[in-house]
Amino acid sequence: MTNILVVSGASRPESNVHAAVAAATRFVQGAGATVRQCDLASVRLPIMEWGSDDQSTHPSVLGVRADARWADGFVLVTPEYHGNMSGTLKNWFDYLYLELAGKFAGVISVTGGGGGDMSIIAVKNCFAWCHGFTLPFHAAVRPGDITDGEITAPKVVDRIARIAHDVARYAPVLRAAFDAARAMGRGPEAGVAGMHVGDWENA
Ligand SMILES: Cc1cc2nc3c(=O)[nH]c(=O)nc-3n(C[C@H](O)[C@H](O)[C@H](O)COP(=O)(O)O)c2cc1C
Repeated sequence: MTNILVVSGASRPESNVHAAVAAATRFVQGAGATVRQCDLASVRLPIMEWGSDDQSTHPSVLGVRADARWADGFVLVTPEYHGNMSGTLKNWFDYLYLELAGKFAGVISVTGGGGGDMSIIAVKNCFAWCHGFTLPFHAAVRPGDITDGEITAPKVVDRIARIAHDVARYAPVLRAAFDAARAMGRGPEAGVAGMHVGDWENA
């Protein structure tokens, strides 16, 4: 079974992001994967403090790390804030690295009317810096695409469905390839996976 984590980068309970998270979750389930949601508006992670002993045993930190480690792939949904991802989502990224390496993600931005490109690029960039791979297309949701808390614009629904199916399709393929490469050891023939040999043993 393929495990997909749908992450909400919303900073508030009433966020339009929840409509995109609901749609993505529905389509990932429809694609046959097992889904968990990580709703950062309710998890309320503390701001990451590198090296903090308190944070390394904080229940919310342990929870998000465990969920990310469980996942083969991700659908990352961010509100667009000042042409970027939300601080909430960036803070989630800052707790993670090994949990994302060699995995696959699709990205959705929820905006106040903009095209979402800047926040989408920001999320993809951050995922790449964690040695993850992203889908070469994405979706943006504007306020007019949502009716009564549900995404109703056909083109946006279509894009989210494609993202969900592609994440469910490619995440296990990439994970298997990455794990096989990692098993080759640290040499250059193992590519980026060779940089992650012993990750969990040393964590
Ligand atoms: C601090 C802040 C910055 C924002 N910056 C942008 C922006 O750069 N582009 C845009 O289209 N909308 C922007 N918005 C509007 C949000 O993208 C919009 O509210 C969207 O629905 C996602 O956030 P939500 O959680 O408020 O629903 C911004 C909102 C806030 C609160």
